[in-house]
Amino acid sequence: MTDLKKYFTNSLLRWNKKDNKRPMPWKGEKDPYKIWLSEIILQQTRVEQGWDYYNRFVAAFPTIQQLAKAPETKVFKLWEGLGYYTRCKNLVATAKFIATTCKGKFPDQYDEILKLKGVGPYTAAAIASFAFNLPHAVVDGNVFRVLSRYFGIGEAIDSTSGKRSFGILANELLDKKNPGTYNQALMDFGAVLCKPQSPLCTSCPLKGNCVAYLNDRVNMLPVKEKRISKKTRWFYYVIAEHNGKVYVRKRGIKDIWENLYEFILTETTSVISAKELNDLPAAKKIFGKNKFEIIQVSKIYRQQLTHQTIHGQFIRVAIKGPLEVPGYEAVSVKQLKKLPFPKFITGYLAENRE
Ligand code: ADE
Repeated sequence: MTDLKKYFTNSLLRWNKKDNKRPMPWKGEKDPYKIWLSEIILQQTRVEQGWDYYNRFVAAFPTIQQLAKAPETKVFKLWEGLGYYTRCKNLVATAKFIATTCKGKFPDQYDEILKLKGVGPYTAAAIASFAFNLPHAVVDGNVFRVLSRYFGIGEAIDSTSGKRSFGILANELLDKKNPGTYNQALMDFGAVLCKPQSPLCTSCPLKGNCVAYLNDRVNMLPVKEKRISKKTRWFYYVIAEHNGKVYVRKRGIKDIWENLYEFILTETTSVISAKELNDLPAAKKIFGKNKFEIIQVSKIYRQQLTHQTIHGQFIRVAIKGPLEVPGYEAVSVKQLKKLPFPKFITGYLAENRE
């Protein structure tokens, strides 16, 4: 495993131990019946809404046998308001199956759990890991979002190949010794910190290695195939100069420009005004207290790719002292010519650096 992968798993578990205060009634539960019940409720229901339903079910039917022999109308009445009633139908059928055919013993192998009515790969992985400590990673949109951001993966999460590669990555990252703890930690992390909208990056303990955060790309990830087709992206590249050298870095984001070089990038989804050019967040983060002065703003460059249009500008900036930023290196203009850049940047360099 690469260091970044190890770091992900370790820091997720550390966050979970130290800072994860998310209370939920099923958390730490070891009874497979109750875990299964909670996971079925949570399939299409938010945690806040499912909470009381779970408690009422456990109170009414403390064991799977009690659920199995309950009158169906009573079970449906308790489910009322949760929606997606096929879940309730399957719940009853599975309770009866386990109480009779399995003689009350909940299946303890992943493949057997997966065969239960109403149980898909996500729910099976959750039950197998929480109840039996089996090494199966939960994989869903929330997991994809966290991974695409942390590892800077620009592959579409809704494409066939994207789903496959995110699934492989998710299983690689799983803590095989504590799969239950790890899975619950990842679910909580995606719900509490790495949220779809307004993620809490500034207080995130993983931000130091989060590729999206370090590249100012958190709001651009994850990528969905459907969105790519009509996407316009604005790239604002700051060319920071000091002592005749400029700062570049190898692009860490896993997309079509992976391993090519670039300047300090701030990406937006729309044009930004001349005034806002003074306030590019990615550059500010990198400059810290270092004073700088804008010496030139280029014309707008444009590049048309199959699924996206790139617009952008280059902002030459003189900085008063050397930068000490990991990942960046200072290169002379001569060296610059030897490095591989995306076409968008070579277009600018050809016109502006002889
Ligand atoms: N969504 C599905 N399973 C969950 C769980 N165990 N905790 C929180 N959210 C979930």
